[in-house]
Amino acid sequence: MLKREEWLDLARDVDWEPSYVSEEELFPPEIAGRPWLSREDWAGWDEPYKTSFPEYVTKQHEKDASVYAVRDAVGRVEDYEKLDPAWANGLKLHAATLPLAEFAAVIGNLRAARFGRSSAWRTMATFGALDELRHTHIPLVVMHELVRWDRQFDWTHRFYHSNNWVAIAGRHLIDELLLASNPIEFAVATNFVFETGFTNLQFVGLAAMARGAGDRLFEKMVTSIQSDEARHAQIGGAVLRILRQHDPAYAQALVDKWFWRSWLLFAVVTGFTMDYFTPLAARTLSFKEFMQEWVVGQFLQSLEEHGLQKPWYWETFLQSLDYYHHMVYASAYTYRASVWFNFVVPSPDERSWLRQKYPRSWGELDGIWERVSERWGQADPDNDFAVHGTAIVSFCDLCQLVLSNGTPARNSAVVVEHAGKKRIFCSEPCRWIFEHEPERYASHNEVVKRVLAGEAPANLVALLRRYFGLSYDDWGKDAYGGRYPWIVRPTP
Ligand SMILES: [Fe+2]
Ligand SMILES: [Fe+2]
Ligand SMILES: [Zn+2]
Repeated sequence: MLKREEWLDLARDVDWEPSYVSEEELFPPEIAGRPWLSREDWAGWDEPYKTSFPEYVTKQHEKDASVYAVRDAVGRVEDYEKLDPAWANGLKLHAATLPLAEFAAVIGNLRAARFGRSSAWRTMATFGALDELRHTHIPLVVMHELVRWDRQFDWTHRFYHSNNWVAIAGRHLIDELLLASNPIEFAVATNFVFETGFTNLQFVGLAAMARGAGDRLFEKMVTSIQSDEARHAQIGGAVLRILRQHDPAYAQALVDKWFWRSWLLFAVVTGFTMDYFTPLAARTLSFKEFMQEWVVGQFLQSLEEHGLQKPWYWETFLQSLDYYHHMVYASAYTYRASVWFNFVVPSPDERSWLRQKYPRSWGELDGIWERVSERWGQADPDNDFAVHGTAIVSFCDLCQLVLSNGTPARNSAVVVEHAGKKRIFCSEPCRWIFEHEPERYASHNEVVKRVLAGEAPANLVALLRRYFGLSYDDWGKDAYGGRYPWIVRPTP
């Protein structure tokens, strides 16, 4: 019998030279990606995390068994009823945005499993596709149990099939990142930027907070998923190394584009959860501190190792660490009926924690919560629309999210004329991404344009019901109906 080290390198890289078609017919550049290099150029493709199929299957079986054991122990509705209501809403946000994005990642990996230019890469991408199928399956199974408790968990499966504004933004990103990109762009964007740069933060950081919040199942689920991500993310560096040698400007442009796009998504999903939905006692670090440790520190180091620069908008990004997710959260609180999860008003203790963690920006943001609290003081409990916006808000023509970049005093939205049409962008990086590849994005309409074109109703409640797919039972409300111990109401 050969030892593992003697056969593995050969087995994971079994390849053959095509004889009755050309290499270019087998891997057309339109689908395999550009730059279209020769076989020899890809021959040195190598990633450090080598595994064989039997090893993979054995390990994954063990991982699944341990997730399901925790689910059997603490995954019932009675267990969830004990959790902090704010945390449960962070869960709904993750539950909706995660599983079907993972399913789109199955497709992205399968494209690389067929059209990746090195056979070792194709082998790894096959494992990656199996991983992502598991990441689709686990949250769907876990959250399904909770639908009978709280209808908002139904959005776990419904979200990406809806025209909810967050789903429109989510699809705009996920479809391009995971369904539409060729294997080269997929490897840099998904495996390198998204998985190495951001998923680490998301899963490692959130697992610690989930433990603090008493949600052992979420902790187990994300830790289990992360162990797969850490393996297949290795594809990214291996592809980037070869791309960087042949087309450094393209490599840099892909990193710049996908870092910004990924950042906006993570700021919303992880930023909300870490700084607003996690009980104060369980917050080990602020979202910004996590970003500084995992993204600013580690990701910049790996960029440097690849001979790449920081993205050109780095200063803008650093400023947005202090503001962006806070501004989107405040904006979304004010339009909470337009989403499928509930919100909380930060308490006086949470506000002083935020002031201490965000000394540069919180002074400008705190007044919003002062006013929201005053409005609740004048409104009856559960009368959500007394503390809610009514006019429709505007969205960015690239990221499709609300125009909440810059600072409260100086919103960074810019209007640009492109091919005779006015476009609005939340930030200079979003504008740059659009102008760099207008043919990719120009035909897509954000929500306000759909309203103006008569495709979606202009009245807010009609928009929520008829276009966003919400009903009174599942649209977002204040998690406490405005009943906070620090809110003083005049005695009737
Ligand atoms: Fe995944
Ligand atoms: Fe992944
Ligand atoms: Zn934008």
